[in-house]
Formats: sequence, C-alpha cells, structure tokens
Amino acid sequence: MDRSTVDYAVSVHFDFRLYRQDITGSIAHVSMLSNQGIVQESDANLIIKGLEEIREDIEGGRFTWRNDLEDVHMNIERSLFDKIGSVAGMLHTARSRNDQVALDVRMYTKDVIDNVLSSLSNLRHKLVEKAETNKSVILPGYTHLQRAQPVLFAHHLLAYFEMFGRDIERFKQAKCRTDVMPLGSGALAGSPYPLDREFVANTLGFGSISNNSMDAVSDRDYIIDFQSASAVCAVHLSRLADEIVLWSSSEFGFITLDESHTSGSSMMPQKNNPDLAELTRGKTGRVLGNLVSLFTILKGLPLTYNRDLQEDKEGLFDTVDTIVPSLNVMSAMIEGMDVDDQRMRDAAENSQSIATDIADYLVKKGIPFREAHGIVSELSLYASEKGSKFSELALETYRNFSPLFDSDVFLMSVDSSVESRNVPGGTSLTQVEGALENARASLEIDVD
Ligand code: ARG
Repeated sequence: MDRSTVDYAVSVHFDFRLYRQDITGSIAHVSMLSNQGIVQESDANLIIKGLEEIREDIEGGRFTWRNDLEDVHMNIERSLFDKIGSVAGMLHTARSRNDQVALDVRMYTKDVIDNVLSSLSNLRHKLVEKAETNKSVILPGYTHLQRAQPVLFAHHLLAYFEMFGRDIERFKQAKCRTDVMPLGSGALAGSPYPLDREFVANTLGFGSISNNSMDAVSDRDYIIDFQSASAVCAVHLSRLADEIVLWSSSEFGFITLDESHTSGSSMMPQKNNPDLAELTRGKTGRVLGNLVSLFTILKGLPLTYNRDLQEDKEGLFDTVDTIVPSLNVMSAMIEGMDVDDQRMRDAAENSQSIATDIADYLVKKGIPFREAHGIVSELSLYASEKGSKFSELALETYRNFSPLFDSDVFLMSVDSSVESRNVPGGTSLTQVEGALENARASLEIDVD
C-alpha cells in the first residue's frame, strides 16, 4: 500500500488499546501449542518471554507503534521477531488475525463490563445514601412537568435506583454473551491442528468456547449487547441529569450542586451552571450514535470476516470512555448535592397536589370517583381563581361544591397524602423504608 492508503487502513492508533489482551491471548495460545506438541516447549518459552518483555516495553513507554504495520497484532508480532528472530513466526501457527481480534475484543469487553458494573453499583449506593439522609423530605411528583401529587424525595431517587438496577442486569447479560472463547476458529473454517480449545478458554477465564468457526470470526453481537446496554444506561443518566438541571435552577431551587460540579459564566458574574449534568445529558448522543453505527456496520455483511469489522472498535472505546466517567460524575453529583427540603415542601404545598386526595375523600363518603373528580376539578378552579390553597378555603365554600365535605377535610395535607399511599411500590414512609432495606440488600449482589 502507498502512504495514503496505509493511512486509510491503519487501526493501530486506536486498537493499541488491546495490547494487554493480545499478549495474554498469545501466551495462552502458544502454551497450548506447546502442550499439544505443535510447537516445542523451548520455542514456546522463548516466545512467552519475548511477549512479556514487549508488555513491559509498552507499559514502560519504550515501544514504538508503527502505522505501516497496520494494527496492534502485527506491531506486537513484528516486535517479537526483532527480539527473538524467526522463532517468533511459530506463534501464529493455527491462528488467524480474524480469531485473534475476536478474542482480544471479547477479553477487553469482559474487563470493561466489570468496570461499568462497579461504577453502576457505586451510583446506586449514592442514590440510596442520599435517599436515606432525606428520608422524609416531600416534594411534588410531576406528570407533564406539572405538579401532580406529593411524594417522598427518597421515592423519587429510588425510581432511578430501579433503572440502574435493570442496567446492571443488562450488562451482566452482555457479559455472559461475551464470555465465549473464539480462538481455534482460524480464518473462518477451523484449524487442521489438534488444538485444545478448552485449555485456552480455561487459561483465559472464559466460560465456554464458540460452537461455529464462521460465526465466531464474524460475530459482533456481544458488542451490540454492550452498546445497547450502554445506550439504555446513558438514557437513564440523561433523564437524571435533566432533573438535576431543573432542580438546581432558581425556578425550582430544590437542590444546590456542590461548587466543584458547576461552573461560572465568562460573562455573567451571577451564574452557576450545572455543566456536568448538562454534559452527562449531552454525551448520551454519542453513546446512542455508537450503537447505531455498529448496527449499520453489520447490516448486510456477508459471512465471515470482512474488514468492515475493524470499524467496530472506535465506537466501543468511545462508549467505554463515555459511560464509565458519566456514571462516576453522576455519583459525585448525587453525593455532593444539597437538598432544600423546605423549597420542596413549599412547592408541594403551594400547588393543588392533594386534589386527588380530596376526590378520594369524597369517594370514601360514598360517591363514585368520576363524580368526585368533577367536583374537585371545579373546586380547584375556584381556588386557583381566588389564589387560595385548599387549606385556606372555608368549610362553607367546600360545602358549596358538595354537602359531603366536613371539617375533617382540613386533616388532609401533603403529609397525609404521602402516608396514605401505603400499597407496595407506593410512596408512604413505611413502603419507602422497606424499599430502602431491599435496596441495601440488592446492592450486595450488584457486582457478583
Ligand atoms: N485490524 C483488524 C480488525 O480490527 C484485524 C483483523 C484483520 N484481519 C484481516 N484478515 N485483515 O478487524
């Protein structure tokens, strides 16, 4: 290839990140070749020693990556030649770069899923802690971004705890599907050598070996699984980030972010912007894009390996580089945020968030819910026009709307509203305390 085509085809500037997996995989491969009598033990030992030195060279910053050698695999193989001479050529016996790259990326993906799981679990921890320290704080719950019914702030946070719990399940499932060892598939058809594929799988900590060599060298579903679990998780982060942006605005004033998580404006001296939350929300775009990109790469690709597959990696790396820090930044923001319980309570009380409770009150006095709904709807309109809260209306006023109203109507409050929702999954303190206990217990198994 001439210079410009080399530049077009090269991947080492990003796939160098697989060097550790590549070397560990090669060592397992050559150990197996030696065990099976395919390569002499002394040659295998030379190769292993050379590979270990290369790893040290890379980690010590003494390794020069060469674009003309295309990718991480060729760079390491050439360096092995430079170190130990032609014996290096035995390493690639019974192996193709097609099953080699599949192995490396699977190993890499398994490793990063562990990182994602631990960041996700940490975020769930922070949500539970924040919920526990603000256990009885009440704020309005919203529908259509209109104040709807009072809920506990802890209940609101635990909704995200649930979402991130499902993310943990999805990443664990992705890890199971990644945990398949493809080496031994050769270029596409398998290998004529008496390989011990199980040995390689065990050595590298894989749960099983691939069943079909053609599938093994062309399968990237496990990256799709990772990308799609990441996409759902990024959407969850984005929704939470958006609430943080809203809550920290002066319109809401529900929370104050830690200073270290906001930034000032270069022009407006009074500003304190929730940049980290906005970035978390914004970075969702690239994570979703990386998923779509991979789908598009695979669509219409004939079996088996095609060079298109080289395009799977940058999106994978980018998603990893985005999702882990986003989870960590979110954890820090949750931990550092100050909750203004009075602002939250005022927002719940200065709205008609107990209107449903008043309708339910009438239902308990014997009228059908639909009718009660109509009565309270008119009452609500009246109170809005007068600029009064429900608690400020006189009993006679209530009675103008229904004779069923009695002085016990004044016992209703945002507190009684929350307390009354004592069904499993509801927002009463008893339910939320139970949910917090369950949450604590499920944290124990997040990273199992
Ligand atoms: N750099 C390639 C990739 O990432 C490695 C596999 C190349 N295989 C081949 N037959 N050209 O997919």
